[in-house]
Amino acid sequence: MRKNIVAGNWKMNLTFQEAEDLIDEIANGLDEENLKCEVVVCPPAPYLEIASDYADVSRLRAGAQNVSEYEKGAYTGEISAMMLASIELEYCIVGHSERRRYFRETNGQIARKIDRLLDYSIHPIFCCGEVLEEREQNRQFDVVKQQIEESLFHLTSEEFSNIVIAYEPVWAIGTGKTATPAQAQEMHAFIRKLIAGKYGEEAARETSILYGGSCNASNAKELFANPDVDGGLIGGASLKKDEFLKITMSF
Ligand code: PGA
Repeated sequence: MRKNIVAGNWKMNLTFQEAEDLIDEIANGLDEENLKCEVVVCPPAPYLEIASDYADVSRLRAGAQNVSEYEKGAYTGEISAMMLASIELEYCIVGHSERRRYFRETNGQIARKIDRLLDYSIHPIFCCGEVLEEREQNRQFDVVKQQIEESLFHLTSEEFSNIVIAYEPVWAIGTGKTATPAQAQEMHAFIRKLIAGKYGEEAARETSILYGGSCNASNAKELFANPDVDGGLIGGASLKKDEFLKITMSF
């Protein structure tokens, strides 16, 4: 179901105490009466249970940053979808560009991770986006199309209805260089059209598509005002309580 979502991707930051404090401050700082979006925090794995506990008693929702493509067993260091489900997480980021780049994740692996999550009714937040060179060569649409086709289009319509998409141009991540609202809208409309071609107009209308890449309290409103932008996946700015809370009120 399409809804506005603001999700904080904390990446590999903070101590246990810092994470607990930030989760507490965000959960208690939400303007629940006027909130027009789902607010999700995605802390590092050792802190997920704290976020999940807060999800029980507040509007805050909890998500992981990654999941294993394998079901269970002898995969040292991996965390399975079953484990995430057992602490009642609702979301999990998959295919983030940092995982593609530093851990060589492929579209095929990302597809398997999505399957594992759907087995346990966890909403994948599927990340896609082009690198700078690809945009300079005007190949951004081909790149995003291929990422979506190879990681999502094996799903049935029913399975697909659980997917959240995050368009994150890699050149905008952590660089302070945000896509313009027009660039974001153009790609989001393109993604929606792709979905319509595969799953039909209604499925396309009902999919939440988030923007990510140097989104902050100063530019969120302008980005979220676009008809096909349903919120944001926030990195750096999600580690600052006031900044993040302001983003949640940008609809
Ligand atoms: P950023 O990161 O907001 O720090 O650019 C976004 C992301 O990587 O999801």
